Amino acid sequence: MPAVRHEGREKVTGAARYTAEHTPDGCAYAWPVPAAVAKGRITALHREAALAVPGALAVLAHDDAPRLRPAGDPTLELLLQHDRVPHRGWYVALAVANSLEAARECAAAVRVEYAAEPHDVVLSADHPDLYTPEWANGGHPAVRERGDFPARFDAADIRVDATFTLTGLHNHPMEPHASVARWEDGRLLVHDSSQGATAVRDALAKLFALDPDRITVLSEHVGGGFGSKGTPRPPAVLAAMAALHTGRPVKLVLPRRQLAAVTGHRSPTVQRVRIGAGRDGRITALAHEVATQTSTVKEFVEQAGVPARVMYTSPHSRTAHRVAALDVPTPSWMRAPGEAPGMFALECAMDELAAATGLDPVELRLRNEPGTEPDTGRPFSSRHLTECLREGARRFGWRARDPRPGVRREGDLLLGTGVAAATYPVLLSPSYATAEATPDGRYRVRVDATDIGNGARTVLTQIAAAALNAPLPRVRLDIGDSRLPAGSVAGGSSGTASWGSAVYKACDALAALVREYGGQVPDDGLTASGDTEREAAAESPYARHAFGAHFAEVQVDTVTGEVRVRRMLGVFAAGHVLNPRTARSQFLGAMTMGLGMALLEGSTMDPVFGDWAERDLASYHVPACADVTGLEAHWIDESDEHLNPMGSKGIGEIGIVGSAAAIANAVHHATGTRFRELPLTPDRVI
Ligand code: MOS
Repeated sequence: MPAVRHEGREKVTGAARYTAEHTPDGCAYAWPVPAAVAKGRITALHREAALAVPGALAVLAHDDAPRLRPAGDPTLELLLQHDRVPHRGWYVALAVANSLEAARECAAAVRVEYAAEPHDVVLSADHPDLYTPEWANGGHPAVRERGDFPARFDAADIRVDATFTLTGLHNHPMEPHASVARWEDGRLLVHDSSQGATAVRDALAKLFALDPDRITVLSEHVGGGFGSKGTPRPPAVLAAMAALHTGRPVKLVLPRRQLAAVTGHRSPTVQRVRIGAGRDGRITALAHEVATQTSTVKEFVEQAGVPARVMYTSPHSRTAHRVAALDVPTPSWMRAPGEAPGMFALECAMDELAAATGLDPVELRLRNEPGTEPDTGRPFSSRHLTECLREGARRFGWRARDPRPGVRREGDLLLGTGVAAATYPVLLSPSYATAEATPDGRYRVRVDATDIGNGARTVLTQIAAAALNAPLPRVRLDIGDSRLPAGSVAGGSSGTASWGSAVYKACDALAALVREYGGQVPDDGLTASGDTEREAAAESPYARHAFGAHFAEVQVDTVTGEVRVRRMLGVFAAGHVLNPRTARSQFLGAMTMGLGMALLEGSTMDPVFGDWAERDLASYHVPACADVTGLEAHWIDESDEHLNPMGSKGIGEIGIVGSAAAIANAVHHATGTRFRELPLTPDRVI
C-alpha cells in the first residue's frame, strides 16, 4: 500500500524536532578540539586562555575527564582518556561554555603541545603493513578459496585481470551528528542523532558503568546517517561526560568539518579482479582480492570481496581481504559497506569480460547464473537476477544497443550505455515489540525502531495495521526511544525485517487475544509481544539476498571531460515491497548516491598533513538535483516464503550497489577508455 509518509507533514512544516532542536533549561554547549597532528602524544595542554573566554565553563581533557569503562569500541572508550593521538582529528579536549559561540571560541583558545611522530596514511596494494585478518566486516571470513584458482585461471581461454582503485568516501548525512545530554538524580537522558537508540543506550551503560534502565536515549527524528550513525558516536559520550563534569545539560552538535575524522568513512580499496572464462563466456575461475585500510584504534575491514561469493558460477575461486592499520581515522559502515565498492570492481570486470568475449554484457551475466550460491552451495531462497536484467533491458531499450565503444557522437559529446548487477544480503537482528489494544478500538505498538528517513514509521504502522486488520489511523506507533522494547539498528537494510517481524508477531498475537475475548477489549486493555530472537539466531538453509540490475546512459563531454548521467534505470528483486511510495524513494536515493560515487564523491588523504582534504560540502561533492535526471526504479514483486511474515527483503542499500559500475561501464561504451578509478571527475576523464 502506498501509504503517505507518517511524519511527512511534521517534517515539511518544521514541527518534527531533530536532536539539536532540543534545548533543556540551563543548557550548556560543547565544542570538541581535534588533534592537530596525525600521530604523536599530547605533552602539554594549556587551558588558561580558553577558560578566560567569557562564558567558558570547562575544558575537559585526558587529565580530568570522567573515566570511561570498556564498551567494546575503542573509538568511544578511549575518548579523552589518554595522551595518545592515533590520527589527525582525534579529540584531545572538549570545551564547554554557556553559548555555542563561547564554546567555539573556548575550543579555539585551548593550546595543545604535541610530541609529533612520523605518520603513515597512504594505502597502496603493496603496503608493507598489509596483513590478512581473520574476519572482514559483517562476520565474513577474510579468505575463501574453492578449487584451484591459479591453475584454472592460467588455463582459461579468456582472461581479465583488472585492478580498481577507490578513494575513501564519507557519509555526510544532511543532519550532522548531535547529542544533548543531561543527568538527573543519577539518571542519564540523551537526545542523540543515531540509527539506533537501544545501541547507544547500551554503549553508554557500559562506558559509564550504569544500569541500562538508568539511561534514556531518544532518536525521534534523524536526518540521515547512511551508516555513520549506525554505531554509537563520540557526541553522545562527550556530551554525557561534559554534563557530568559541569552539572549542566550539554548540547554538542558536530561541525560538519569534524565529521570526517570521527564518524567513520568508507575505506579506500585497491581491488584486483581476475576472471578466467571460456570463449562462450562461461566463467571457470574468479578471484577478487581486496586491500584496504583501517586505523590503529580499531580493526574494520571493508568486505568488498564478499559479493563475488554470491554472484556468478565460478567453480574455482578465491576471495580475499588484506588490511593495513594506518594513522588514519577509523573506517566504518557506509551504505552497502562491502557490496558498494566490491560490486563496482566485479561488475566493471564483468563488462571487461563481455568486451573480451564479444558477448553482450546482459547475455554474459545470464550465462553465468549459478544454480546455488557459489560459495556455500545453499539454494537461493529467491534470486530473479535474470528477470531483473531482462526486465531492465526491455524498459531501458537495451536491445538496439550498438556494442562498439566510442562511436556515438552528438557534437562534442560522446554517448554510451552500461549495465551492472546488484546484490545485497538479507539480514535480520533481534528486535522486540509490544502491542496493546484498548476498549475504544485503538492500538498502540511499541518498538525502538529508528526512522532515519527510511520510512520506518510508515511501514511499521502498515505492518501493524495489516496484522491487526485495523485501519491505519487506529494504530499508534511509538519508536525512537530506548525505553521501548529493544530494537535493532537501522542498518544493514534489516530494519523492516527485524522490527517489522517483531511488530507483526506482537500484533498477530494481540489480534488472536482480542478474538478470544470475543472482540470485547476489557477496560484495562490487552497486550501481546513479539520478537525476532529465534530468527536472528537461526542459520537459514537458504542463501538469502536481494538482487537487481542497473542500466545507465551517459554523455561525456570531450572538451571538458564532464560526465553526465542522462538516465539511470534500476530493476530490483527485493521480496515483497510493502510500500511502493517509500520503497521507490529508497531505491532512487541509493541510486543517486551511486551516481555520486561514480562521478562526484571522493575523500582524498593528504599524505603530508595526514588528513582528509575534503571536509565540507563545498569540496565533498554530492549530487544536486540538476545532476539527477531520468532516474527510474522498478521492481519485481517476488514471493519468497523463506524470509519473514511480510515476505520482504531489505531495500535501503541495494540501490547503490552496482549503480556506479553501470555508469563507469557506460563511460567506457561512450569513450572506449576503461577508467578503473573513481570518481570520474573531469580531470580523470579528459
Ligand atoms: Mo547502513 S551502512 O547498514 O547503516
